[in-house]
Amino acid sequence: MKKLALGAIAALALALPAQAQTKYPERPITMIVPFAAGGPTDVIARLVSESMSKTLGTQVVVENVAGAGGTTGITRALTAAPDGYTIAMGHLGTFSAAPSTYPNLKYDPIDGMQAIGLAGGTPILIVAKKDFAPKDLKEFVAYVKGNTDKVTEAHAGVGSVSWTTCTLLKGQLGVPKLNSVAYRGTGPALNDLVSGQIDFMCDQIVSVSEQVKAGTIKAYAVASAERSPALPDVPTTKEAGLPEYQIEAWNGLAAPKGTPKEIVDKLVDALDKALKDETVKTRLLGLGAVIPSAEERTPAGFAALIKRDADKLTPVLSQAVKK
Ligand code: MLT
Repeated sequence: MKKLALGAIAALALALPAQAQTKYPERPITMIVPFAAGGPTDVIARLVSESMSKTLGTQVVVENVAGAGGTTGITRALTAAPDGYTIAMGHLGTFSAAPSTYPNLKYDPIDGMQAIGLAGGTPILIVAKKDFAPKDLKEFVAYVKGNTDKVTEAHAGVGSVSWTTCTLLKGQLGVPKLNSVAYRGTGPALNDLVSGQIDFMCDQIVSVSEQVKAGTIKAYAVASAERSPALPDVPTTKEAGLPEYQIEAWNGLAAPKGTPKEIVDKLVDALDKALKDETVKTRLLGLGAVIPSAEERTPAGFAALIKRDADKLTPVLSQAVKK
């Protein structure tokens, strides 16, 4: 009996360190958004973080760390301690485009990062100030080609989604150089578009759909195969006469490489639950986001998407930055 009790105590003692390791989270988690508040990354981060906070039983606090096309914030997040208390909401730009546009980038989204999962697909819209002269996409193309010295384009810095997607657009139109203005995110750029200080930008649907509906800006086309249910009157680029311009953007979560598996699993589960939460889902869909598939919400599925898009973008973007 005495022997048995001692054995049980020894077994308990052995089990304790393992239990202590999996006690996560014990304090608030910081979710870094590498752009200014009010932009698409911020919109998605704030929606999912609220639900993730409930699942994890601790506050997931969004912190905006803008600069250098989102690479400043992502560097901060991915070089933090791999303990699950600092994670990042990145996107097509910071994870798939930035490595080919910043030769001295301090992070590696392919081999040096722990993917968590995709948080939302974000179709790309070509949007302009409401009284911009061109009435439709064909007129927009002709106008931009004929007024390269006059037209002004907004973006969120080299390597951001707006920069990447408009770089592809300009490449296809044969107008690689326009007067472009870099902002700390497309949230502040949108303010200048609404007030008419800038002509156009390529932006993710989630932060501009409400302004398009309200008529404070206009949208020429969505660069996806299908129209967005959130903006059913906006034609696809194929319908509007520019079929070769097709690009899908997205936002997703990542953590520093080396984050323990049991912590990653909890974050994956919390993201998955957020995307199943009816309130979050309805809001995301209403803004035009695409809800990721079960596979895309996994670390492996998200990592494969990052690599696939990096492979697609690298040849085009590395040429574009040399020009
Ligand atoms: C933002 O959140 O401001 C955007 O995602 C910026 C961008 O990449 O275009």
